[in-house]
Amino acid sequence: MSKEQQSGQAAAQSVAPATGKLGVMVVGLGAVATTMIAGVEAVRRGLAKPIGSLTQMGTIRIGKRTDSNSPLIKDFVPLARLDDIVFTGWDIFEDNVYESAAHAAVLKPETLHKLKPYLESIKPLPAVFDQHYVKRLHGTHVKKGKNKRDLAEQVRADIRAFRKTVDRVVMIWAGSTEIFLEPSAVHQSIEAFEKGLESDDPAIAPSQIYAYAALTEGVPFANGAPNLTVDIPAMVELSKRHAAPVCGKDFKTGQTFMKTVLAPAFKARMLGVSGWFSTNILGNRDGEVLDEPQSFKTKEESKLGSLEYIFQPELYPDLYNDIYHKIRINYYPPRGDEKEAWDNIDIFGWLGYPMQLKVNFLCRDSILAAPIALDLVLFLDLAKRTPELKSIGIQEWLSFYLKSPQTAAGLYPEHDLFIQSMKLKNTLRHIMGQDLITHLGLDYYD
Ligand SMILES: NC(=O)c1ccc[n+]([C@@H]2O[C@H](COP(=O)([O-])OP(=O)(O)OC[C@H]3O[C@@H](n4cnc5c(N)ncnc54)[C@H](O)[C@@H]3O)[C@@H](O)[C@H]2O)c1
Repeated sequence: MSKEQQSGQAAAQSVAPATGKLGVMVVGLGAVATTMIAGVEAVRRGLAKPIGSLTQMGTIRIGKRTDSNSPLIKDFVPLARLDDIVFTGWDIFEDNVYESAAHAAVLKPETLHKLKPYLESIKPLPAVFDQHYVKRLHGTHVKKGKNKRDLAEQVRADIRAFRKTVDRVVMIWAGSTEIFLEPSAVHQSIEAFEKGLESDDPAIAPSQIYAYAALTEGVPFANGAPNLTVDIPAMVELSKRHAAPVCGKDFKTGQTFMKTVLAPAFKARMLGVSGWFSTNILGNRDGEVLDEPQSFKTKEESKLGSLEYIFQPELYPDLYNDIYHKIRINYYPPRGDEKEAWDNIDIFGWLGYPMQLKVNFLCRDSILAAPIALDLVLFLDLAKRTPELKSIGIQEWLSFYLKSPQTAAGLYPEHDLFIQSMKLKNTLRHIMGQDLITHLGLDYYD
């Protein structure tokens, strides 16, 4: 019997309960972070529903279809309750969460007003920042240190101080997209990385200083941006060594979410694709940062991968060998966070006859991202309490939420949303000692 086929009864007995407070440290208190924090508080007060959050609204089928047993996910696995979450974070601006949320203008002033005292009480800690890595931002609320090692130690001190006030801690990067960095020698081992911290190696970005501090403190880390951050051998090693689960990269929200739904549908029906042109207008601070070519390159790489992996042109050369895939992100201030995305997809069917599909998604970026950030935090905390998951490093079962899923070395990522969803739910069944669902279903016809 393979590991996946075992019922995992032993694991079920040992997932530690979510007792006490869960401290959530958010790097970057911008649009996504403040929408998540304000949203959690609104839900806690009964002012709104946590729509878009699988951990809060989703169910999971246990057993056969005829068993009629589909509990809520949050009742099936021991997740931290929203009432037990305590937020803190860092930013390069001094604005408290109320001011930052007002600036981001995602949530309406009347919503923010109701939550004002709470949101004002969350004030950012000074950040680790260097403008070299995010050219468009000029922050003043930043830490000073003699080298990157010193800055990492300061973040570790922040974590330790916060940990005294809560029972468990998780960190999530909701900061800006950094310039494109490729893995280099300094990223290959913990030793090389630590030497690089001492010598201020330019290949170590601020996001990696936070991640290093988190993992060294045994704190799980999620990467919501397309930055390299934890997608390097040194961080994966640290994650395993300190039983601090990691996942990344880049919240899968609007256009890529749709791509990873539509592309599997074309492939399932053996329809060919000759071109996929995606363009966006976006006017928030994220859009402004992405207007800078080096940050755009990081985002572009993250967005481009999904189609190639889903279509597997090496297996289907007649259908997908020659796709022209283009992605544009245009900074357009009047739209703020209300991004508009257009996709033109040129497909072909029986005997090669061409067809077109147009998708026009008028979305709200941070409204889509906030529940993803919340779910990642809650699931990483669960992973940390699950003996079978806590020391494996990358939590590939969370790919469902990510545009450019991090995987073990040499393993191609699964981008198909429905495969990702099945993987996530089967992981939950597995750790709780329940049978996996394969959708074979022949036993209904015995
Ligand atoms: N909104 C979405 O739908 C979405 C989807 C996928 C990924 N993302 C990514 O999530 C991240 C956050 O997006 P957003 O819309 O909230 O952007 P935002 O610009 O509103 O917020 C980012 C915040 O991070 C802060 N920051 C930058 N560098 C920092 C550092 N080194 N330390 C601490 N704070 C730092 C900025 O000052 C800003 O307040 C971006 O990288 C974005 O690309 C967003």
